[in-house]
Amino acid sequence: MRALLVRNVRAFDPNTSLDAVVDVFVEGSTITRIGRDAGRDVAGSEFVTVIDGQGLWLLPGFVDIHAHVREPGQEYKEDVRSALKAAAAGGFVDICAMPNTKPVNDTRAVTEMLVYKARSIGGTRLHPISAITMGLGGENLTEMADQRDAGCVGVSDDGRCVTKSGVMRRAFEYASTFDLPVIQHAEDHDLTDGAQMHEGVVATQLGLRGWPRVAEDIIVARDLMLAEYTGGRYHLAHASTKGSVELVRAAKERGIKVTAEVTPHHLLLTHEALLGYDTACKVNPPLREESDVEALRQGLADGTIDCIATDHAPHSYLEKDVPFADASPGMVGLELCFPVLLDLVRKGVFPLARLVDALTRSPSRIVALPSPTLREGAKANFVLVDPEAKWTIDPARFESKSKNTPFAGREVQGRILATYVDGIAAYELPKEGNTP
Ligand code: DOR
Repeated sequence: MRALLVRNVRAFDPNTSLDAVVDVFVEGSTITRIGRDAGRDVAGSEFVTVIDGQGLWLLPGFVDIHAHVREPGQEYKEDVRSALKAAAAGGFVDICAMPNTKPVNDTRAVTEMLVYKARSIGGTRLHPISAITMGLGGENLTEMADQRDAGCVGVSDDGRCVTKSGVMRRAFEYASTFDLPVIQHAEDHDLTDGAQMHEGVVATQLGLRGWPRVAEDIIVARDLMLAEYTGGRYHLAHASTKGSVELVRAAKERGIKVTAEVTPHHLLLTHEALLGYDTACKVNPPLREESDVEALRQGLADGTIDCIATDHAPHSYLEKDVPFADASPGMVGLELCFPVLLDLVRKGVFPLARLVDALTRSPSRIVALPSPTLREGAKANFVLVDPEAKWTIDPARFESKSKNTPFAGREVQGRILATYVDGIAAYELPKEGNTP
């Protein structure tokens, strides 16, 4: 049997309040021993691969509930294989695939294709999310029972908002029979017609049409009322406004079944990043103001916002190397999520335990997947990190087919060295070189 021993590593797991320097021994796909010197007797065996974990961290594998894999239909931007490789390079052991593909994932055939393809590739697992409405048209509900049976873990029209209240009500009612979360892209399209970026002074300065906060808040407020009325489970995708954070906080206090996610870019960047018309910073919802970033960080720190999701949105130069108004919104996120956010831990914005929880236990609960954890008897789904390593982000070295990130050239500290899925290395940092 294959065996792996990580020696003297700082193992960190908020699930079990573990924070200690230990040996972690894996036999086959399972963690069989964790403890101080737990692997001493097997360390010399020729059948055991030994990793010296001195100075390194071992964390539960990350779970991303919001990624765009672009297959079927836009494989020149990304496909299942490249998305899974990018995910593994970013420390993710599970990712959820949004349905705004071509064709849209609104039928069992698309889900089955994705599940089959991902399984045949191996490594990071893929869990499709079904559309709420056929063709993301906002009118007719998808066959959610079928989609759930085929492997979908949630429903969303992401990229489009379900704006009709009656449709949203039925979506809550239908999805709740299977306990599927209804994941909303909260945008009142009437208020964002022609919008290019956050409505504020920078938009005025740049002469670009603005996307006001209220276009998000108005939908969140209505959806929370509908969630309360129907008893449905609401998940807010990519929260971007301070208003959303306040609404979710109040709804949680009322006992409404609501969860929320925030992206790394909404935690790190403001609309000022667009001052040079950098299309890499064009995202939907848009980058907002300092006060929103503050509220999102606070919301994540106090648990109002449950988890971090990348909204990994690969686009090629064909969609990004164009005039700002023509550029597609989105940036890649899977490979950079943890390294760029570790900086916020160092700055004391939230503790490491909260960051790890927001990338592991919290997201897995929302989509009802088993939470990766470091305990004896659990599957070996973990990430090995060098917290001290300094490196420079170079998109040319991404596993993702797309390179659309505003973080190119940024020096970061903290690097994913390896990602294990059920005991098998899905990613290992190439030995030589500075960049991945
Ligand atoms: O920036 C975004 N890009 N936001 C979305 O909601 C959709 C996504 C995409 O599919 O490119």
